[in-house]
Amino acid sequence: MNMNLYGKNFLTLKDFSQEEITYFLDLAAELKEKKKKGILVDEFKGKNVALIFEKTSTRTRCSFEVAAHDLGMGTTYLEPASSQIGKKESIADTARVLGRMFDGIEYRGYGQSIVEELAKYAGVPVWNGLTNEFHPTQMLADMLTIREKLGKLKGIKLVYMGDARYNMGNSWMIACSKMGMDFVACAPKKYFPNDELVAECKEFAKASGATITLCEDVKEATKDADVIYTDVWVSMGEPDEVWAERIHDLLPYQVNKAVMDNAKDSAIFMHCLPAFHDLGTDIGKKIAEKFNINEMEVTDEVFESEQSVVFDEAENRMHTIKAVMYATLKK
Ligand code: CP
Ligand code: NVA
Repeated sequence: MNMNLYGKNFLTLKDFSQEEITYFLDLAAELKEKKKKGILVDEFKGKNVALIFEKTSTRTRCSFEVAAHDLGMGTTYLEPASSQIGKKESIADTARVLGRMFDGIEYRGYGQSIVEELAKYAGVPVWNGLTNEFHPTQMLADMLTIREKLGKLKGIKLVYMGDARYNMGNSWMIACSKMGMDFVACAPKKYFPNDELVAECKEFAKASGATITLCEDVKEATKDADVIYTDVWVSMGEPDEVWAERIHDLLPYQVNKAVMDNAKDSAIFMHCLPAFHDLGTDIGKKIAEKFNINEMEVTDEVFESEQSVVFDEAENRMHTIKAVMYATLKK
């Protein structure tokens, strides 16, 4: 397939066509197969990428680092405490400095406007490693996983349960609307994606044959679902004070056995991770003491079940991020 994405930014899937998204997925599958066979794809020797993280990360950082090294590139990790970004130096100035030294820049942080500003001034491809609004590299990993497990994307019913107005819910609505999938946001009304984004995605859906449904009723929403997806109830950067309200509002939308039983027999459970499914984390323990719940967005039973594909998803972060860097850096 001839798809020229050289020099393109990767900020949100809104900017990509169904064909381009499919190209990223096919390329990721090819790179994954080569890696498994021990075939090196290190044709970017001599190139370097900057990885800016204003929020913490395990999967995304490791994926960018491993993928870049596999491709033959050097990496520089910039954490909030060790750079001047935003505090002593504007985003525009930072972008122009890094653009002189690096061949590509990854950014994880707060507003989408920051990564857009970075892209405007950098002069090299900028990749969004998560903002408050979007998490597009996660979408590629998840779609590759769905293709591997269920064989297709078109016509797949994906139910997103929880805070559907934040990065993961927004990104899934966009991804589904581009790829002809049936997207359902299952949450109390105030957690639905905003009207403007819904309208935009409905336009994408017209072209792809996707459907977009916003539904408060768990039974109705999850009926015959192919994919049940959830994410943490409180995202990075949000204040601790919101926990009480979130637990109150979202506990009825927890992914548990009843939810999975209501979906198709072949349904899979997905989560971008990290997940609060037991008391194995400091935050999980604190919340358990304060609110008397041991599991949050997903029960341990579902998380550890045969239907759960969360670690396949996590692995696919690396292969798909490699594809994004490859496609946008390859002349
Ligand atoms: N899913 C995800 O982005 O994980 P990290 O926060 O660990 O990067
Ligand atoms: N909504 C979560 C996603 C983590 C990958 C967050 O922003 O913290």
